[in-house]
Amino acid sequence: MPPSDIRFFTEDWTITVPSLPNVKFLRLTPPRSDEQIKILSNPLNSPFASPSDLAEVWDEEMKKGVKERFLARYNLSKTKYQALEIVVEIDGETVGQGSVYEIPQVQAGLANIGLTLAASARGKGIGRAAMQVLLRLANELEVNLVHAGTMSTNKPMRALAKSLGFTEREEVLSVPGRGVVADILFENVDYKRYKDLEMKVEFLGPVLE
Ligand SMILES: CC(C)(COP(=O)(O)OP(=O)(O)OC[C@H]1O[C@@H](n2cnc3c(N)ncnc32)[C@H](O)[C@@H]1OP(=O)(O)O)[C@@H](O)C(=O)NCCC(=O)NCCS
Repeated sequence: MPPSDIRFFTEDWTITVPSLPNVKFLRLTPPRSDEQIKILSNPLNSPFASPSDLAEVWDEEMKKGVKERFLARYNLSKTKYQALEIVVEIDGETVGQGSVYEIPQVQAGLANIGLTLAASARGKGIGRAAMQVLLRLANELEVNLVHAGTMSTNKPMRALAKSLGFTEREEVLSVPGRGVVADILFENVDYKRYKDLEMKVEFLGPVLE
């Protein structure tokens, strides 16, 4: 399915949901890529770290690689609608990052959802809202399956995924170049159910790069 609005891929935007008026989901654009790295590189933000997380050393080379991979997805998404990514802000402060993008190296047409919130932002309904927004955004992508994954020790994510309609399956997922990223997969979510999620999108014009 083509995107419902091409501006998700061509413009900057912010999303808000009625239940959390002080929380903004901003499009992750090149000028914001350091915000994503700030969240991902803080080990306190991955309390249920996978073997690949534990092996990562967040030196300058690693940060450069993460940024380059984001930029590659971002640039490709201008013509091939396979990735949308967000940063989560409360009162102007970045408290999380999330993404939904195709992982053709695992399976063509399969999108992976990832979400990381700082400890200060957890337990307030933001994770649930962010997942719902990402499932809504999955409807803009040219994919036909959506999954997520984590380590089996991650009880909060397992409870959240279940309540959003995912089923879970034990499977060790390795991504080439990264290693083991999950031992539990969340699958079979009816992401189309989130197509009409109540949210306000403000399109802000072309991204300044
Ligand atoms: C997992 C994560 C995204 C959940 O977000 P959150 O904002 O803390 O969760 P919410 O407050 O929206 O709660 C949503 C649901 O998650 C579950 N949950 C949240 N915290 C929980 C906890 N400490 N224990 C058990 N379940 C929990 C509950 O089912 C909750 O629903 P309820 O409030 O109706 O009971 C967040 O904790 C996080 O970013 N953790 C670190 C990174 C990570 O593990 N990411 C997931 C990998 S994909």
